[in-house]
Amino acid sequence: MSTSREHFSSKIGFILAAAGSAVGIGNLVGFPVAATKNGGGAFLIIYALFVAFICLPVMLAEMGLGRRSQHSPYKAYAELGQQTTHWRLAGWLATFTPFMIAVFYMVITVWIFGYLFQTLSGNLELIAQPEYFGQFVNDYSFVGYLVAVTVIINFILVGGVRKGIERASKILMPTLFLMLILLVIFVLTLDNAMAGVQFYLVPDFSKIDGSVINGALAQAFFSLSLGMGILITYGSYFRRSDDIVTSGKLVAVTDTAVAFTAGLMTLPAIFAIYPETNPESLSDSSVSMIFSFFPQIFMQLTDIVGYGFASVAAAIFFLLAFVAAITSLVSIIEVPTSSFMERHNVSRKKALLVMGLAITVLTLLAATSFGLLPWVSKIAHYAGMDKSLFDVIVDVFYETILPLNGLLICLFVRFRWKRENFTAEMSEGNAAYKTSLLHKYVNFSVGTFIPVILAIIFANTV
Ligand code: PHE
Repeated sequence: MSTSREHFSSKIGFILAAAGSAVGIGNLVGFPVAATKNGGGAFLIIYALFVAFICLPVMLAEMGLGRRSQHSPYKAYAELGQQTTHWRLAGWLATFTPFMIAVFYMVITVWIFGYLFQTLSGNLELIAQPEYFGQFVNDYSFVGYLVAVTVIINFILVGGVRKGIERASKILMPTLFLMLILLVIFVLTLDNAMAGVQFYLVPDFSKIDGSVINGALAQAFFSLSLGMGILITYGSYFRRSDDIVTSGKLVAVTDTAVAFTAGLMTLPAIFAIYPETNPESLSDSSVSMIFSFFPQIFMQLTDIVGYGFASVAAAIFFLLAFVAAITSLVSIIEVPTSSFMERHNVSRKKALLVMGLAITVLTLLAATSFGLLPWVSKIAHYAGMDKSLFDVIVDVFYETILPLNGLLICLFVRFRWKRENFTAEMSEGNAAYKTSLLHKYVNFSVGTFIPVILAIIFANTV
C-alpha cells in the first residue's frame, strides 16, 4: 500500500469535494424537469427512496473499496480482486467510463462557459434568439472556450487532493449554495411562481410507470456520481480514521437537497414567465432546456425587471451552472488522471498532460460531431448509428454502463471482497456501524436485490 498517497485534510473537505462532484447539471435542470413531468411529489418520493435504499449502499461500497485499497479503480479492483482477469476488467471499465463521460460533460460545460461569457458581455438578447444555439454549436469560438475551461480545470487538478480539489471545493461549493438560494428567493417573488411550485410538488401517482421508475433510478445514479469510479478514487483519499458512513450519508443528503432546491428555482421561473406552460411539453433534454429555453426565459424577464437586471440574473444562473459543472468535471477527470499516475508511476503534471490532452481532443471531436467538421459527423453514420458522437456517448455510458458498474461493485462485495470485510472497512472511523440497522440493510441489499434491480435496468437498455 502506498504511503505517499495524498489524503483529504478533513471530513468536511471530503464531503464538499464529493458533493461538488455530485451536484451538477443533473441537479439544476435534469432533476427538476424530470420531477415536474413525471408526477411531481410522487417522483420526489420515489427518487428519495432510491437514493436512500439503493444508491447509498452502492456509494458506501465504492468508497469502501477505494479506502481499503488506497488505489484508484483499476488497481483497487485488481488488488482486492486478486489479479483475476474479470475483476481487472471491472476496474478497467470503472476507469474508462469516467473518461468518456468527462468528454460529454466537458462539451456541455464549455457551452455553459460560452453562454456565461455572452451574458457577462451584455449579449442576453443575442443568446435568447431561437436560432442562436444552432449557430453557436457550429462556431469556432468553441475552441477558445474549450481552452479556457481546460486551463481552469488543470489549474485546480494540478494542485492535487488538498491544495487543488479540496481547496477549490471549499470555495466553490458555498458560493454555489449562495447563488442558488439567491436565485430561488428572486424567482419566488415573481407573480405566478406558485403555479410552478405546485406542478413541482403536488403528487400525481397516475404518472408513475415502469419507465418513470427506471428514469428516476438512472437520474439518482448519475446525480450521486455512482458507477463512474469517482467515489472509489475519492474514497482512496480518505484516511483510515475518517468516518465513511456519515460522510456518505451527508453527501447523499446534500446532493438531494440541492436537486430539490433547484426545482424551486427552475419550475417557478418557467411558470412565472409562461403561465400557460404544459409540464408535458418541457423538453427531456437538459441541453435544450439550458441553451434554448432558459435564455428565452431570462429575456422575457426583461419585461418585468428590465434588461440590466435580467442580464444579471442570467449571468448568476450560468455562473451557478458553470460552478456546478466544473466541480463535477474535476472529480471525473481525477479518476483517469490518478489511475494513470499509479499505473505508470508518473507525476500528477505528466498524467494531467496526457489525460487532459486526450479528453480535450475527444471533446473537440464530440463537439464538432454536430457539424463543425463534416467528416466527424460521419463517424457515427459509418458506425451504423444515425446519431452524433455526443448522443452516442450519452446513450451508451449514461444509460447502460453506469448501472453495469453499479452491478459489478455489488457482485464484487458479495463474491470477492466478502461482506464481513466490507463491514470491517465501514466500521473503521464509525464503531457504531457494526451494530446498526443500516449495516444489516446494506449487507443484505448489496448482496441480493440491488444487483438484481441493476441487472434488470442494464438488460433493459442493451
Ligand atoms: N452528478 C453530476 C450531475 O448531476 C454528474 C457528473 C458527475 C457528471 C461527475 C460528470 C462528473 O450533473
